[in-house]
Amino acid sequence: MPAAERPGEAKGLRARAVQLRELIRYHSERYFVLDAPEIPDAEFDALVAELQAIETGHPELVTEDSPTRQVGGGTSATFAEVRHRTPMMSLDKTTSYDELLAWGRRMQRYVTGEVRFTCEPKVDGLAMSLLYERGRLVRAATRGDGTVGEDVTANVLTVGAVPKALASPAPEVLEVRGEIYMTVPAFEALNSRQLRAGARGFVNPRNAAAGSLRQKDPTVTASRELGFCAYQVGGLEGGPSFERHSRSLDWLRELGFPVDPNVELLGSLEEVDAYCKRWEADRHRLDYEIDGVVVKVDDLAQRRELGATSRAPRWAIAYKFPPEERTTLLRDIMVSIGRTGKATPFAVLEPVVVGGATVSMATLHNEDQVVAKDVRPGDTVVVRRAGDVIPEVRGPVLSRRPDGLARWGFPTNCPVCGQRLVRLEGESDTFCVNLDCPGQRVQRIAHFASRGAMDIEHLGERSVAQFARAGLLRDVADIYELDLEAVGALEGWGETSVANLAAAIDASRARPLANLLVGLSIRHLGTTGSQSLAAAFGHLDRILSASVEEMAAVEGVGPVIAASVEGFLALGRNREVVERLRAAGVNFEGRSGPELPQVLAGKSIVVTGTLEGWSREEAEAAITSRGGKAPGSVSKRTSALVAGSDPGAAKLAKAAELGVPVLDEADLASLLETGEVPTRG
Ligand code: IVH
Repeated sequence: MPAAERPGEAKGLRARAVQLRELIRYHSERYFVLDAPEIPDAEFDALVAELQAIETGHPELVTEDSPTRQVGGGTSATFAEVRHRTPMMSLDKTTSYDELLAWGRRMQRYVTGEVRFTCEPKVDGLAMSLLYERGRLVRAATRGDGTVGEDVTANVLTVGAVPKALASPAPEVLEVRGEIYMTVPAFEALNSRQLRAGARGFVNPRNAAAGSLRQKDPTVTASRELGFCAYQVGGLEGGPSFERHSRSLDWLRELGFPVDPNVELLGSLEEVDAYCKRWEADRHRLDYEIDGVVVKVDDLAQRRELGATSRAPRWAIAYKFPPEERTTLLRDIMVSIGRTGKATPFAVLEPVVVGGATVSMATLHNEDQVVAKDVRPGDTVVVRRAGDVIPEVRGPVLSRRPDGLARWGFPTNCPVCGQRLVRLEGESDTFCVNLDCPGQRVQRIAHFASRGAMDIEHLGERSVAQFARAGLLRDVADIYELDLEAVGALEGWGETSVANLAAAIDASRARPLANLLVGLSIRHLGTTGSQSLAAAFGHLDRILSASVEEMAAVEGVGPVIAASVEGFLALGRNREVVERLRAAGVNFEGRSGPELPQVLAGKSIVVTGTLEGWSREEAEAAITSRGGKAPGSVSKRTSALVAGSDPGAAKLAKAAELGVPVLDEADLASLLETGEVPTRG
């Protein structure tokens, strides 16, 4: 039925279109002009798609100034306006492989001759047009609305990656288009600097790049680490002529422009499909963010045949990866207590599917982060989950904040034991210092029993919590005095499982000193420090009688760990636990790790990020106990990098640069077994 015959519906749609235009303008301005987007790109795209669908179905509702007819977000008063010599067009985009391939087939049908495609990572930054006259950079402009952009020449002149003078022979006039971006490590460093200075951080690297470039004062831009990559010749006079885009990219490289090294020229849609899928899976291996792949027809004559619509060329399409950011309701902020007593705030979220998983909780790290982000229970927040990374709350959507929403305050008392929390001057973490806190206790005992420490099978966190609730476990020494009869009476425990547990506890008495030290949950003392102390002193009694200076002198220990060990052992409560462990027959000796096949001798394996089945210490202990080294950074001597979720971007980048293989958790298991670094086929 035509819309005119359903006046009610047409009226509803008209109102929705008006509302959508308003929303799109608001968010466009936040994104393009203010460099402070509130909602994820995918949500913004959905608003535009909805408006587009209404306008396509009801052409009578289209308005002259509809955002669907414009590119980007316009210009701000800070910069002079620049009219582009040729418009900077937008790109059609899709999030579906079917649509991508349908586009490719259309290209193959419509043009003369065989079609080849260049596939280019879609770097997530800020589009830039650079104008060179006789080899000199004379002007740099943002995209603006596609016709008129902002003159940011003074700022771009401070960006090292942008060539100011071209290698000769340079053409008379050259306009190069590309992306200004910020690498993930540079973004993280900038954000922690901002945070230390009490300023609000940037939401993501794109935003940080845009915010850094669009500064009134070019010295601010100069202080930020920005990259540039060229992806298109926009205009060319008095220079060579090209028949293919890929050749023009080679030439740009010769002139001194950075061009993404991962650009590939492909002859079939199967290869295009595989390229996109590969980069969708591997996007986090790069140290800069990409949000998709741009696929372009390579032959320039074919491009001319295809032409463009009013806003985008027909010869290119952007395949956008599934979003890694979504908005959802922040139901509450709670605080969890770890084994060292550290109180970590975390977000309780209305479950949302993002980055391929349902997220209902996300860490907020510490008090300063909550303050800096100013997220409040009741806010709509942006949640990010990239790859296997631990989900993170990026910030609130201020335009959706209900009136009168109260700021969240860090609790003054431990949510588990009720005792006062302590935050020391100059530290970002807050602690529950009550050693009897049941929250800490369970974490501490479970850690003692974990693989990298005393390795007691059948005594995982859930059993520890169950035994603690039943009053059977209060500290780690209780493990060796466990009332097995009482355990047998608990739910889920039978004769066999109790016997297995008893055998596992018994076996753990023989673990070497290093494992015992790891198990004691001494702050700052990890696997490496424990190994060093064990190797240097050989017996716990010698550590007990050592001075802080003697411990600090041990390589791999140092004053912070030494003071922490001394402080721990000076506490009567802890000394008592140690004596009960001795009485229970727990081994206090050993200069090395457990005797395992030394399959990793001569290998150096770096671990980064969070693994599911192991803590970092466990993984490192598993490596060192097999003769390997587990240093904290990647170098040319590194045999492999094991990356869990939330891996360090700098480590990944270094590994990629040095060609160090990157392994996942399953690979680690096989590496420990065989000592061979698995190769990927
Ligand atoms: S080509 C007419 N190639 O994506 C062709 N764009 O959503 C214009 N982008 O404005 C763009 N990497 O800022 C092209 N290899 C690439 C790109 C790329 C990132 C950005 C660019 C553009 C936006 C379109």
